[in-house]
Amino acid sequence: MKNYDNVVIFDHPLIRHKIAILRDERTSMKEFRELIEEITTLMTYESLKDGVQTTEIEVKTPLETCTQTVVADNSVVIVPILRAGLGMVNGVHVLFPSARVGHIGMFRNEETLQPETYYCKLPEGIENNLVMVVDPMLATGGSACDAIDLLKEKGCKNIKFMAIIGAPEGVSKLAQAHPDVDIYVSTLDRCLNENGYILPGLGDAGDRLFGTK
Ligand code: PRP
Ligand code: URA
Repeated sequence: MKNYDNVVIFDHPLIRHKIAILRDERTSMKEFRELIEEITTLMTYESLKDGVQTTEIEVKTPLETCTQTVVADNSVVIVPILRAGLGMVNGVHVLFPSARVGHIGMFRNEETLQPETYYCKLPEGIENNLVMVVDPMLATGGSACDAIDLLKEKGCKNIKFMAIIGAPEGVSKLAQAHPDVDIYVSTLDRCLNENGYILPGLGDAGDRLFGTK
């Protein structure tokens, strides 16, 4: 895959270790859910290192008063793409508990692989926030592109996207469609199969998170 300026592929031994367990078909639903959260937290630490609004406060130590920089409350909105994106919300909240949450519901039509939007509820004033769109799987890229189109239509200007596993097809599509969006993917897989599933992948993230199959 070509290199894109707006794409970060994590290459970290701790993340690679967790992803190996996540892929394993024997991993239980509970462990799968915990791993998705843990990997998301590791990715959040890096992906929020810039772009977050900060503010200065006065702190009185036992010795003197000093000016300190803290992250501004309410400056980040997490937007999971339902369903599987829900599994990543807690992972961001661990580091950013004041983040509000908007929801975009989408499913892929199994024949056309085109995303269909069935729900959208976003916090008021989201256009002034850093919006972190989360979805564990970036396959064809259709769902991520449409979700970000929708957010831009609502006026959002500062958007990041975070996925656990990306296929080259989806990463390229998203990077080209939204060059202003920073894209963070913890690992890049080989390709998509004929049904639009990522190989080697982990199967259907929503089903594994929620036990629906
Ligand atoms: C999965 C996944 C993404 C989408 C990725 O959701 O969570 O949203 O597919 O595929 P794409 O990049 O080709 O659009 P799915 O449609 O299976 O819905 P679910 O989360 O409700 O299971
Ligand atoms: N959605 C998933 O959950 N898994 C894939 O491999 C592709 C899309």
